[in-house]
Amino acid sequence: MSLTIEPAGTSAAEASLPAPRWRHRHLLDLDGLDWSEIEVLLRTAEDMRGVLARPIARVPALRGRTVTILFYEASTRTRVSFEVAAKNLSADVVNITASASSVSKGESLVDTVRTIESLGANMLVMRHATSGAPYLAAETFSGSVVNGGDGWHAHPSQGLLDLFTMRRHLGDLRGRKVAIVGDILHSRVARSNIWALTAAGAELWLCGPATLLRGFEAWAGSWRGTAGGPDGRKGFVVTSDLRAALRDADVVMTLRIQRERQAGGLLPSLREYAARFGITRERLRGARPDALVMHPGPMNEGVEIAPDVAVGSGSVISEQVRNGVAVRMAILHLLSGTLAGSTAPVEGTARG
Ligand code: CP
Repeated sequence: MSLTIEPAGTSAAEASLPAPRWRHRHLLDLDGLDWSEIEVLLRTAEDMRGVLARPIARVPALRGRTVTILFYEASTRTRVSFEVAAKNLSADVVNITASASSVSKGESLVDTVRTIESLGANMLVMRHATSGAPYLAAETFSGSVVNGGDGWHAHPSQGLLDLFTMRRHLGDLRGRKVAIVGDILHSRVARSNIWALTAAGAELWLCGPATLLRGFEAWAGSWRGTAGGPDGRKGFVVTSDLRAALRDADVVMTLRIQRERQAGGLLPSLREYAARFGITRERLRGARPDALVMHPGPMNEGVEIAPDVAVGSGSVISEQVRNGVAVRMAILHLLSGTLAGSTAPVEGTARG
C-alpha cells in the first residue's frame, strides 16, 4: 500500500507518513493480527499523533470516503473518537443511532447494513450488544467493518489504545507487570487487552471476585497467544488475590462493574465489591510508586476506583481518551488502503 498524508499548507515531503503494508479489510478482533501487524498499527498511530499536533490536524487520506457509525449500545468515547478520527482524515461521516433508526421498527442487522451500503458507506464502525454481530455485518458489507465493541467479546480499538498508551510511558512491555482488576467476565476490554498485552510480552494479571473470573483460568491454561510477539506465546495469571495482583505492578487498570450485564448472584453488592476490590490510594501503595492508573471508562467512581485515584498523579485516563483519536485514525487509514480504488491487496474473509 502506498498512502501519503498531505495536510493543506505543507509540502508533500514534510507531510509524508510511512507507507505501511496492511492486508486486513476489517478490524473485528485482535486475535487475527500477528505482532508485526500490531506494531504497524502502533507506529501509524504515532504518526497520527504527529498529525494531531499540527496547527490544522486534518489530512486528506479518506477524502471521498464515507464512514458510517452505527451504534446499538450507548457510547461516548468510542463513538466520538471514531467520528473525530474520520473527520480528521477528511472522510464524510454519517452517524446512526439504532434507537432512532428503522432498527426500532424491527429491521434486521443485515438489512440495515445493506441499506447503509446502498446509501454510500465505504466503512462501517459498529457497536452491538451481541457478541459476533460485526462478523455478520462483515459478511454482508463490501467495505470495511470496524468493531467498536460487541457484547462481552472484543473491543479491539480499546485494546490497541491501551497498549499504545502503556508503550508511550513504559516502552518495551517485556517484564512489565500489568494488573487488570474488576468485572473481567463481562469485559470485552479485558479480552482485547489479553491479546494485545500478552503479544507485547507483558506480565499480565487478571483480578476480581471468583464469580467474575469464570472461565478465564481454563482459557489461561490453554492460551496460545499471538504469533510473533517479543516474548513468544506468553500466558496470563488469573487471581482473586488483589494484594498479589497489585504487588509491584507497573500498570493498574480498573474495569467498570457492568451493572447492566450482571446476572443475579455474581456480586453480593456494589458496596462489598468496592470494599474488597476498589482501587484506593492505600491499595495502590502495593504497586510501584510510579505505576500508571488506567480505566477504559466510563467509570463508577467510588466503586471500582476511588475519585482521588482516578485523577491522581499516576492516572493516564484522560490520555487514554486522547490517544483513542490517534489510534482510531490509524485503524481507519490502514483499512481504507484495502478498499476498492486502492492498489493494496484485499483479504476478503470476515476476519481478514
Ligand atoms: N471505553 C469505551 O468503550 O467507552 P464508551 O462506552 O464511552 O465508548
